[in-house]
Amino acid sequence: MNNFSKTEREIFILTNVYLRLADIIPLNDGTFTELDLGCGKGGLTLGLASLYPRRRILAADIMLGRLHKVEKKLRRSRCGENVFLLRSEANMLLGRLLPDNCIDRLHLLCPDPWPKLRHSGRRLVSSQFMTSLHRVLKPGGIFHFSTDDPEYMAAVVRLVEESGFFEEASPSAIADIAHIKTEFEQDWLDEGRTVPHRVWKAR
Ligand SMILES: C[S@@+](CC[C@H](N)C(=O)[O-])C[C@H]1O[C@@H](n2cnc3c(N)ncnc32)[C@H](O)[C@@H]1O
Repeated sequence: MNNFSKTEREIFILTNVYLRLADIIPLNDGTFTELDLGCGKGGLTLGLASLYPRRRILAADIMLGRLHKVEKKLRRSRCGENVFLLRSEANMLLGRLLPDNCIDRLHLLCPDPWPKLRHSGRRLVSSQFMTSLHRVLKPGGIFHFSTDDPEYMAAVVRLVEESGFFEEASPSAIADIAHIKTEFEQDWLDEGRTVPHRVWKAR
């Protein structure tokens, strides 16, 4: 799908707000496209890459070191020719860099919970995030969210409902990847916490 060999995979460093990602990656060519937003150590990205070699998989994180690790894992596993690693801030990616209606499924799994009330403004999901999210998703596109933090989950459910942009989707929309546990989810499960997943469909 892309032109990079397994030893030359690029990490796209996206710091220019005037960049149009569609000029680099053909995002509107009809290929089913998944975005692992805040991909961390890449558990979901690697799972998707091995399940779906014909889909386009975008893995984005603000931490370059994490993306280097994901790149190394992809190289070792000899899969992921279809994976694009993006070093980008999530709001900039969704708000500016991605074109409209280009994502089929967006996964935001175990984002930093910022549990203290005074830090809640640092959370990724906000009303502005909902607007950008809806812009980049294709109609009927899926928003998949998980967190171990009940208060963050309640806040996200509220934001989704207030936005009016989404309707509840069937869990079958993520049944194909229910067996994949990201590194953070596994850590929380090992500590005896629960990590619910929710899924919505763009109107
Ligand atoms: C708690 S980790 C979860 C990683 C992975 N999704 C998982 O479930 O294992 C959150 C990830 O989001 C990234 N992140 C935090 N804020 C971000 C932002 N504003 N833009 C992009 N990535 C961000 C962090 O660097 C980190 O890798």
